Amino acid sequence: MRELYFSGIQPTGSLHLGNYLGALKQWVKLQREKDCIFSIVDLHAITIPQDPVELREDIFRVFALYMAAGIDVNRNIVFVQSQIKEHVELSWCLSCITPMGWMNRMTQFKDKVQKNADNATLGLYSYPILMAADILLYRSTHVPVGNDQKQHVELTRDVAQLFNNRFKTDLFPIPEPVIPEVGARVMSLRDGTKKMSKSNDSDMSRINLTDDDDLIRKKIQKAKTDSDPIPSHITELQNRTEPLNLVSIFAAIIGCDEQEILNRYSGQNFSNFKKDLADAIINEIAPIRNKYEEIMSDKISLVKLINQSNEKARNIAEFTMQMVKQCMGLYI
Ligand code: TYM
Repeated sequence: MRELYFSGIQPTGSLHLGNYLGALKQWVKLQREKDCIFSIVDLHAITIPQDPVELREDIFRVFALYMAAGIDVNRNIVFVQSQIKEHVELSWCLSCITPMGWMNRMTQFKDKVQKNADNATLGLYSYPILMAADILLYRSTHVPVGNDQKQHVELTRDVAQLFNNRFKTDLFPIPEPVIPEVGARVMSLRDGTKKMSKSNDSDMSRINLTDDDDLIRKKIQKAKTDSDPIPSHITELQNRTEPLNLVSIFAAIIGCDEQEILNRYSGQNFSNFKKDLADAIINEIAPIRNKYEEIMSDKISLVKLINQSNEKARNIAEFTMQMVKQCMGLYI
């Protein structure tokens, strides 16, 4: 069977280490062996209030960060979601077959509304259907994401199955989530029970891909740990959320498992470990930041590139949407 990998990131603020380790870093690896499509999902971003000037700039920033991290825009399809109107069209068609009960199970919606009741818009509620449309529009077979998106990919699988059964077709493959073994859930540097996120008020809770070296050192040095030494076995870290998070970040950055990190540092306190961790992060991120600044300094070329890339996505999207209309009996 043909394989196609699809994923996307919302253009809201700078990308952080969670986005990088959960998604971007594995995309860069995957693109060497697989056909991939990567989107900047701006229609998802507007499910919560955004400053329009900032949002437009963030779309450029995220496209530039994809490139700076190593995504090859010539080899893969990289595009801005709102430029392809079929995402909204398919989203509507899928929302007309999806039972409300399935939507009511989505934990991310409940979390966001709990944090801020003003978030409870229809768009935020139906967001997972837009995500299903993103994935199915390209008849994707795999979705490389961090752990927090797993439930949305599972919903997409159910919706694809429902569509195929209802309209007696095999139009949509049933997509698999692809979740990295380490780095799938990077936690806040200030609170190991909370996910590292763009929306946390404290900038010290995350490492942004655009942070300079000094700031990265400062954030790691101030990252919360505890007073016990680094243990020798990973099971001893299970209830020490902040130290476990730092060990996981270290492992994900250098590409090994957590136990290997413990073998190196067990019995020590965190000061040496933190110094080395900051160096490893800087080693990985500084070249991305430098490349990013270079790409952003030539906006005209960037706009040209984005417009060309959008075109490639449009062809596939139009084809699938015609098939969907055919299946559902809409006028074609
Ligand atoms: P978004 O923009 O919140 O996050 C983008 C990617 O980064 C991952 N991620 C993390 N991974 C590990 N630790 C963290 N702390 C962390 N925070 C974020 C996310 O899992 C994601 O892979 N709904 C999606 C975007 C989307 C999408 C899609 C993804 C829209 N359509 C279709 C895949 C396929 C989202 O809001 O991701």
